[in-house]
Amino acid sequence: MSPVPGGTLVVRVALATLVPLAGGCAWGGPMSTVVPASDFARSILGVYAIITWATALIGLTVFVALGYILVRYRARPDAPLPAQIRGHTFLELAWTIVPALVLLVIAIPTIQIIFRTQSQAAPPRGLAVQVRGWQWWWEFRYPDLDVVTANELHLPVGRTIVINLEGPDVIHSFWVPHLGGKRDVVPGRHNRIVLTPDRPGEHWGQCAEFCGASHANMGMRVIVQPAAEFDAWVARQRAAPAEPSGLAAEGKAIFAKSACVGCHTIEGVSAGMLGPNLTHFGGRTMLAAGMWPNTPANVAAWVREPQRLKPGAKMPELGLTDEQANAVAAYLIGLK
Ligand code: CUA
Repeated sequence: MSPVPGGTLVVRVALATLVPLAGGCAWGGPMSTVVPASDFARSILGVYAIITWATALIGLTVFVALGYILVRYRARPDAPLPAQIRGHTFLELAWTIVPALVLLVIAIPTIQIIFRTQSQAAPPRGLAVQVRGWQWWWEFRYPDLDVVTANELHLPVGRTIVINLEGPDVIHSFWVPHLGGKRDVVPGRHNRIVLTPDRPGEHWGQCAEFCGASHANMGMRVIVQPAAEFDAWVARQRAAPAEPSGLAAEGKAIFAKSACVGCHTIEGVSAGMLGPNLTHFGGRTMLAAGMWPNTPANVAAWVREPQRLKPGAKMPELGLTDEQANAVAAYLIGLK
């Protein structure tokens, strides 16, 4: 007898399959598509609901009829040969017309929603946000507010947002399930999403188009806030961060004379354009496009070994000592 009897193996395979599948069924997860927080997401969920109920009803009808027929008309010993039917006009018409009607019921709202959510017209009073997908982080620019940030998009609740998607390097896809469907970020093309967030809260997003080694590490957060909180956030972004002192001041000196300045902007210190703008880095909750909480220990580890922590990261190893990394982390975390 084998050490793993057949029955046990079947159970193990079934469990190994069901556990991750069931885990994917969490209704209110941070990236659930059935917990809408914008008009865009609600429209899509409406179509999804129609298709789900229509197919559930059809499935139920078919399986009940099938069960009944299997039992009622099963072969019995000595049963006579049943009536042999060849062609039946009514049935032929019925099973052509009914599926056509079902497809119509699904197609009409689907096409309506596609047209409504693909509209390229920007509403005149919307808040414009430029989203740029970089390997492997997100840049967010608010041209009307003169604010630039990365990986954490703040939006006011109840206001129409015009998201203009641009790709400076390769194709990415912007996807924040609570706020609606994914849309590609393509170099040389201007794609647009128009939506109105209708529920304050923190919504998780993820690049949804394979874009290289750290595609899976290209997350983001969208923080939808009441208007007053959003205005306060904008005011903080537009103000200069406090001048550092002590360890943070040492960190600033190390930053200013290292390779960091070639890629990152910190107002008044550097003007690099290839990496995230760090002027208010300490005000963000997560680090490295949603990979870890933005704590001094995590930032120190990141600036010491970005290549090990995020495969393929464009940020080079700077050769900092532990002390230098701690000082730079203290400086960056202080940039509120
Ligand atoms: Cu960017 Cu995948």
